[in-house]
Amino acid sequence: MKFEVQDRRSFLARVVTSGLALIGAGLTALVGIAAAPRARKTGRRWQRTISVFEVPPERPIAAVIAERQADGWYETRKQSVVFIDRDGDSYQALSATCSHLGCRVRWDATSELYLCPCHGGAYDRSGRVVARPPPLPLQRLAVRVNPQTSDIEVEL
Ligand code: FES
Repeated sequence: MKFEVQDRRSFLARVVTSGLALIGAGLTALVGIAAAPRARKTGRRWQRTISVFEVPPERPIAAVIAERQADGWYETRKQSVVFIDRDGDSYQALSATCSHLGCRVRWDATSELYLCPCHGGAYDRSGRVVARPPPLPLQRLAVRVNPQTSDIEVEL
């Protein structure tokens, strides 16, 4: 009789211990999955902008690029603006971000300059600084034309 009680107790103890071990292993796996950093996208990517047929001959045109960015569990949508312009038989792309403090420049057709609304900075059509305070030219981005779609792609 005493042997049966001890046998039952040890069986129950083993069941409870095994159950707790399984729960612990499951929780450990969940914590590991939650704490592991997501694989980050690195490197530069080609982004579609506009078709070559949309670029007017007489002025640059702004193109908005929307991209999703993931940082761990936090996801945001980032918008970048680039100016696409003809450059002889090819195209150039300039970032619309002022090199001074990051305001967005706009193309002014009257002066034929990129003007920054924040502190009066100005750039010529090729992105060179013509009025300070910007310390650097507008960032020039690599450009390619997709031969299948005729879309202009820039490397961000
Ligand atoms: Fe453009 Fe200051 S941010 S001139």
